[in-house]
Amino acid sequence: MQFLLRHRDIANLEKLSVYCAHGGYEGLRRAVSRESQWVRDEVARSGLRGRGGAGFATGRKWSFLDQSVETRYMVVNADEAEPGTFKDRELIEHNPHQVIEGALIAAYALNAQEAYIFVRGELLAGYESLQRARDQAADAGYIGPHIFDSSFSVTLRVFRSAGAYICGEETALLESLEGKRGHPRIKPPFPAQVGLYGAPTVVNNAETVANLPQIMSRGANWYRQYGTPDSFGIKIFSVSGRVVRPGNYELPLGAPLSTLLYELAGGPLPGHTFKAVIPGGSSVPLLVPDSFSVPLAYESLIQAGSMLGSGGVMVLDDTVCMVWAAARLLKFYRAESCGKCTPCREGTYWMTAILEKIENGAGTPADLERLPDIADNVNGNCLCPLGDASLPFMLSAMKHFRSEFIQHIEEHRCPMDPYISR
Ligand SMILES: Cc1cc2nc3c(=O)[nH]c(=O)nc-3n(C[C@H](O)[C@H](O)[C@H](O)COP(=O)(O)O)c2cc1C
Ligand code: SF4
Repeated sequence: MQFLLRHRDIANLEKLSVYCAHGGYEGLRRAVSRESQWVRDEVARSGLRGRGGAGFATGRKWSFLDQSVETRYMVVNADEAEPGTFKDRELIEHNPHQVIEGALIAAYALNAQEAYIFVRGELLAGYESLQRARDQAADAGYIGPHIFDSSFSVTLRVFRSAGAYICGEETALLESLEGKRGHPRIKPPFPAQVGLYGAPTVVNNAETVANLPQIMSRGANWYRQYGTPDSFGIKIFSVSGRVVRPGNYELPLGAPLSTLLYELAGGPLPGHTFKAVIPGGSSVPLLVPDSFSVPLAYESLIQAGSMLGSGGVMVLDDTVCMVWAAARLLKFYRAESCGKCTPCREGTYWMTAILEKIENGAGTPADLERLPDIADNVNGNCLCPLGDASLPFMLSAMKHFRSEFIQHIEEHRCPMDPYISR
């Protein structure tokens, strides 16, 4: 079953003629033949939740858009800089029309006259693929005035980001799209009220909108047959790290994590065992092997003490030093913190410094108290979610693998073989 990754079964799906021969733009045709309210209701009925990380219900998000202001914008977030996450990249490179068609359906549903696709700067192949697909779709009349002879007219632009993790945060993204430095805005007001150029705006992830053509052409009930009562539909999981077959896998939500890890990704590398998995990009707590039977659904992962997040499943095995892994991730957040607020800027700096100190054998028992203390001062005190997002992995590593942290301190060295674990 591949709906989002169907380019793997259909050669040259990035070409408009091939995409249309396989039902392409039929979802858009069906959408514009109905009232925009019907499209919003159908998407709400499908139970689709945002695939950008927070899992917010898409229909509900759309219902917040201020319809009293004449100008409205639809923005697709293809910034994808979350560590371990590479699903949007595959979609925009190989199935770009499905993302574009989804953006157009969303624009119609929201009565937006302009749509943008915001692409991570480093994803050049995806950006170029989207540009080519956009031009083909515009030449065929799917973008522009009076689409399918309806009253719906829309422009769509593909924007290449300068490349910074923080530009994936929706308000920093809007600043960047406006040509400014990518710093988050204070919320409220939320983009649904004051977004791009001050107008009501919806920001949706690229995978979220890629679901819309199928939902429109097959219906909400079809979509709801997949998944669980709180997590309907299908989802792409990016598996990386210490497994036999890393890659993107499309699954109905609710499939067990163990199926993804052992059957699809081929299990651990020969001679090794799994130590932990970060199931939803770098911003969520780790899971230990005891929890690997957990269903991959928003609610189940919360019950298991983690989150589904972006669906970036990073696998750590017995060669990986957990102190090193925590230091490495904190270093990422330190580098990507925009520096606008003190708890995040200073907290990520000091937590990285302490973790590297422990990793290098110079840590003290007091450092093990300092880390949660700093985390406590960061948590909930930042302007945007990046600061908080730096904490869950480190705190969960300290909880589940505390003995490893203590061993570094007592032995004044990393107990793992550095040639294997790096
Ligand atoms: C630091 C940071 C980076 C983010 N990066 C992305 C990203 O690359 N892609 C994305 O879709 N959402 C990203 N988000 C979430 C967006 O702010 C936003 O919630 C999302 O695009 C909404 O789409 P959805 O409702 O379809 O999930 C990021 C959030 C934060 C705090
Ligand atoms: S939390 Fe971090 S990234 Fe977000 S605004 Fe503050 S300093 Fe910038």
